Amino acid sequence: MKFFNNIFEGKKVLVTGHTGFKGSWLTLWLTQLGAKVTGYSKDVPSSPSLFEEAKLASLIDDYREDVRDLQQLTDLVCSLKPDFVFHLAAQPIVSYSYTNPTETFESNVMGTVNILEALRVSNHECTAIVITSDKCYDNVEWVWGYKETDAMGGKDIYSGSKGAAELVFKSYFHSFFNNEKSNVRLASARAGNVIGGGDWALDRIVPDCMRAWDKGNKVEIRCPDATRPWQHVLEPLSGYLHLAWRLHEDKSLHGESFNFGPDSKVNHTVLMLLKDLSKYWNFSDSSKAFEVTDHKPFHEAGLLKLNCDKALFFLKWIPVLDYEDVAEFTSTWYYKFYKESTDVSKLTAAQIQAYQEKAISKRLPWAIV
Ligand SMILES: NC(=O)c1ccc[n+]([C@@H]2O[C@H](COP(=O)([O-])OP(=O)(O)OC[C@H]3O[C@@H](n4cnc5c(N)ncnc54)[C@H](O)[C@@H]3O)[C@@H](O)[C@H]2O)c1
Repeated sequence: MKFFNNIFEGKKVLVTGHTGFKGSWLTLWLTQLGAKVTGYSKDVPSSPSLFEEAKLASLIDDYREDVRDLQQLTDLVCSLKPDFVFHLAAQPIVSYSYTNPTETFESNVMGTVNILEALRVSNHECTAIVITSDKCYDNVEWVWGYKETDAMGGKDIYSGSKGAAELVFKSYFHSFFNNEKSNVRLASARAGNVIGGGDWALDRIVPDCMRAWDKGNKVEIRCPDATRPWQHVLEPLSGYLHLAWRLHEDKSLHGESFNFGPDSKVNHTVLMLLKDLSKYWNFSDSSKAFEVTDHKPFHEAGLLKLNCDKALFFLKWIPVLDYEDVAEFTSTWYYKFYKESTDVSKLTAAQIQAYQEKAISKRLPWAIV
């Protein structure tokens, strides 16, 4: 079987933010694809964490450093000369961004400047994907999906920092990488709300739920009718890997940005998602799983959809999982972790394998028998 044309096999891959939720899944997947992964993160952002539970440090070169430290990052990039970079390191929590705005801007904006600066200085042959967010768009609460050419924005600090990271990406591309002397190829990737096993961040609905359900408590829901483009963590990751593969082979993608989200019909409310997750936790009825509260400590956007036509057209990328699969993958992962003490490394690897098999059966171009 060939995944992503075996492009990552034996390659040096730098993942920033590798100790986080998405970074840990990406790190494990890349090691399965045969990559030699180096991880660069300032800390392990939660306890428990997928990174520690799956013992990922033993599989990779594991650096505990800060992306705000330009010298450290430049030294590493120049000495390692990675073939691929996935830049995920960021302060990703909206609520935390209200109390820690400078840290959020420094990590998310200057962190992006620093990784691009390190690549500019090193100027070795490298394909880099800058991961931002669907929240980079100026959210005008309209009913249409945002497309890559829509305006950047962000009413809250986190969203603003991701919009600004996209502007940094564009400026660096035009100023330094869009010429014959540059050996670096770049693209940015914007994905929506990601769920899946192994996320223990604070103030995110799924981790909040799983922590409460493990203790037999109800979870409080702030905005039951808010819709989000829920997708399993493996979906944007397949998008990032697919984009890196295609960008490596096709220079016309250099400097482009891509949305990776679910089918636009898949926009379920928080309430629907919780009902569907609770099915796997043996509640006699879902009213025992959550309660709606009026307490809204900070502004949260009500409606946010992505238009992913560009990824479909240029990459032939589409999501693998149905919404029902997303709920099942996510909820059963936590249930097995909390209630059956299943080995996390095996559990996570099995979900990656199941995901790859579904991609093969859908005949997706990145998954070929
Ligand atoms: N989880 C989501 O729903 C979601 C949605 C859209 C975009 N994203 C983006 O995906 C990326 C990963 O998100 P996540 O959910 O895995 O977050 P996470 O909090 O689980 O992980 C964040 C990672 O970044 C690292 N980090 C933070 N600040 C750093 C710094 N200054 N220097 C070095 N490392 C630093 C942490 O150590 C950790 O490894 C982020 O860029 C985030 O904005 C996440």
